[in-house]
Amino acid sequence: MTLDLRSADPGRPLPHALPDPEIHGLPRDFVWGAATSAYQIEGAVDIDGRTPSIWDTFSHTPGAVENDDHGDVACDHYHRMPDDVRLLAGLGLDAYRFSLSWPRVQPGGRGPANAKGLDFYDRLVDELLAKDITPWATLYHWDLPQELEDVGGWPERDTAYRFADYAELVAGRLGDRVRHWITLNEPFCSAILGYQIGCHAPGRKDFGAAVRAVHHLHLGHGLAVQRIRSVVPAPVQAGITFNPSQVYAASDAPENIDAARRADGMGLRLYLDPVLRGQYPQDVLADLAQLGVDVPVEAGDLDVIAQPLDFLGINYYLSDVVAAGDEPGRTVRIPQPDRPVTAMGWEIHPQGLTDLLTRISRDYPALPIYLTENGAAFDDSAYDVSAEGRIEDVDRTAYLADHLAAAGRAREAGADVRGFFAWSLMDNFEWAYGYAKRFGIVHVDYATQRRTPKQSALWLRDAAQATRKR
Ligand code: FCB
Repeated sequence: MTLDLRSADPGRPLPHALPDPEIHGLPRDFVWGAATSAYQIEGAVDIDGRTPSIWDTFSHTPGAVENDDHGDVACDHYHRMPDDVRLLAGLGLDAYRFSLSWPRVQPGGRGPANAKGLDFYDRLVDELLAKDITPWATLYHWDLPQELEDVGGWPERDTAYRFADYAELVAGRLGDRVRHWITLNEPFCSAILGYQIGCHAPGRKDFGAAVRAVHHLHLGHGLAVQRIRSVVPAPVQAGITFNPSQVYAASDAPENIDAARRADGMGLRLYLDPVLRGQYPQDVLADLAQLGVDVPVEAGDLDVIAQPLDFLGINYYLSDVVAAGDEPGRTVRIPQPDRPVTAMGWEIHPQGLTDLLTRISRDYPALPIYLTENGAAFDDSAYDVSAEGRIEDVDRTAYLADHLAAAGRAREAGADVRGFFAWSLMDNFEWAYGYAKRFGIVHVDYATQRRTPKQSALWLRDAAQATRKR
């Protein structure tokens, strides 16, 4: 045995056999990738001119993150990047989705670019291209420069314009080689988890601020798409990544149907409607108004927000069954005890992905869809490590296989799904859960920074190969 994984229950039988790498319904040219984000893997938080982001501040706030973990070192990817790209190439994947750290590229969130910060991403892109891996750059995966939060953050309109400037700096430098651009990752999480619930940075608990943040994130997205198109030579592929809720009503009772309408409004339509249709859903605006909250739309905003896009990124992990709560307007999530759960406690429901993708293709203007994240945390320490040092993460592998099959079914039902990025390339800093939750298809031993591909990574490689051979 070459790995020093704790084996919590060495006698535990593996939950399933390894799934067949032949996935039905996916085309030969399906894009196979893996994803990461800057703060979750890079470390090197005060090196080469980087300034703090809201996640540096938040993770160093006692009690904010499990075990008081932070991203100061994380996977030390900043120093190990060429090795990590070699690892990715060894898995035979077509594409790599990464994010750029805004305060590394533009310390403080305004002014000129920090050459050393941009150089890092420049080298990353070159390393990827040299290995035939297509770079997919996400401009914002939650690490707002702290200085911008200090003057109000996303609830302030000016942040959208700061984001547009930053987008132009990055696209101007990398756009000769990077064709695939994702403006924002999951604006729902930036706004709602960060400003309403407060379990993510910057940790505020103010619903009105969260709704203002939603609008300014949308505005920032639209402005950024305009800037990307102005500096990146054609053919550019610009898109955004959402994590829309897939909602089901707990029963046909009218109050539960209405709860599902509200949850769908706040979890899906509040994001997709302005960006893809150029309007906010009237019923959601009415629900918000009843709560005394307005969306701060100014003249012309929706035209900016609804920029034509080249693709839609969807992240999917779980679905929601909801019912009306005790108080009027309150929605509660109803746990489904028959569904197995991941280490996050997230219910596993691949059919939700099929339903979500077919619904989006039916209700919104046709766009190619990429699954920009899907994957699962499981407690790898509970698995047997084979004599060869393999990590037999059969649960994670089955999760990936079942969701890829769900995407295949959605394709057969007409959804234009063109690719899949496993979350995540490697175990990393899982936000409020710190390092306690492992989503990687590659294991990271944080004490030594040694990387070991898990069975899921090898399976993904085989599944990609099997599909290409069709
Ligand atoms: C998504 C995030 C990603 C990761 C996964 C588990 O919401 O985009 O960074 O934390 O969840």
